[in-house]
Amino acid sequence: MALNKQPYRGTRDFFPKDKRVRDYLFAVMTKTSESFGYESYDGPLLEEVELYRAKSGEELINEQIYSFTDRGERFVAIRPEMTPTLARMVAQIHRESSKPLRWFSIPNLMRYEKPQRGRVREHWQLNCDVFGSPGRLGEVEILQVAVELFEAYGANESHFEILLNDRSIVDVVFKILMKSTETQTYRLYKIVDKAKKITHEALQKMVSEVGLSLEAENIFYAYLRLDNFEAVKAFLETNNQIEIAAQFNIFIDFAKKTNITKYLKYDPTIVRGLDYYTGIVFEIFDKHPDNRRALCGGGAYANLLQIFNEDALAGVGFGLGDVTLRDFLEVHKLLPNFDIPVNDILLTFQEEGGLDATLKLAQILRQNNLKVITSFEALKFKKVFPTAEKKGVRFVTLMGSDELLKNEIQIKNLANKEQQTLNLNDIESILKLIKA
Ligand code: HAM
Repeated sequence: MALNKQPYRGTRDFFPKDKRVRDYLFAVMTKTSESFGYESYDGPLLEEVELYRAKSGEELINEQIYSFTDRGERFVAIRPEMTPTLARMVAQIHRESSKPLRWFSIPNLMRYEKPQRGRVREHWQLNCDVFGSPGRLGEVEILQVAVELFEAYGANESHFEILLNDRSIVDVVFKILMKSTETQTYRLYKIVDKAKKITHEALQKMVSEVGLSLEAENIFYAYLRLDNFEAVKAFLETNNQIEIAAQFNIFIDFAKKTNITKYLKYDPTIVRGLDYYTGIVFEIFDKHPDNRRALCGGGAYANLLQIFNEDALAGVGFGLGDVTLRDFLEVHKLLPNFDIPVNDILLTFQEEGGLDATLKLAQILRQNNLKVITSFEALKFKKVFPTAEKKGVRFVTLMGSDELLKNEIQIKNLANKEQQTLNLNDIESILKLIKA
């Protein structure tokens, strides 16, 4: 039986053209992260399942994780997200490290999901996280990194928005104002997380099954109607939650000092599916009607290090996936064209004897940081320019019997069509021409 040529369901082969796109996405991610002083890190592809069981949430564990028992009877998983690995690594070194720690990584992650637009089984995800930042500055900076990243791709407020909430507010509403038990609170979080994807009737039915008092239900629906920061503040103050309102205000005031406020929108249904978040939670949404989905998700988590019996160390960060990002850039026509590779020069010869001189010149040009392609055999004149075009070079050289005799080459600039004949020993002039 012939083997299947297609990749495993929900994973992708990256042919050179797609790989060029991915390299571009990653280069901008790296540049932006480093411009804020974030340091690159990485971890293993496999982790013990227990690491995710602790705080990643039941959906990830029950439905999405790729797990197996290894030859040594350890129950392991392919990483479905990076945050637990990051927390495990930070737990090893945080005591002797100066804070804040600013780290980034672009790991590939696997989740068993139904493949569809924007959802695959293996994706790459930029993770930027800060640990140990004072007050609410880390939260604001993390949002700034995300915003500047999108802006670096050419996007602005007509393309995306940041929907934001604060879990400490949600906790106050559920636990203090509505007097919900732990179980009820947990169920309410799951309901709110789904609120936008279901009908109002379905929502009402789910809420009625939680077993809340009428008063608590009314508070719940009033909470769901909050749609801007002023309304949240007023709601908390009216309900005597002055301290939490003031805390949130500090965050908003910091945010106002940066370029992120024009993107920020309060959304009571953003609570995020992962269990470790404790502070702000946010999702960056595409505004395009054909692509209304989360491009990026993140938030603050105060207690994740405690699963390693370490003291709490506040962390905040986000994950931004390559698949949703590419869809976003394509739908807004922000993705540069990567159909053709980018090279500097194609060296060709039209007589068999030209190979030696070509290989020698190629070596010198490469030593001078140029991207050089050589033809392996004599190339007919009529094939030279079509080949040069496919290889995406800026210059092409020709060497016929005349040039061979005189130790010369013809160099053609493909942009302005100018052609010069230069001596092969005159490397200085050749380099000057190509690097001009
Ligand atoms: P997440 O919301 O699960 O968060 O994923 C973040 C982003 O990764 C999503 O917004 C989406 O762009 C992308 N993504 C997730 N799953 C898939 C998939 N199956 N196919 C394609 N793209 C996907 C986290 O993973 C958190 N650990 C992020 C974080 C970092 N929080 C704090 N620091």
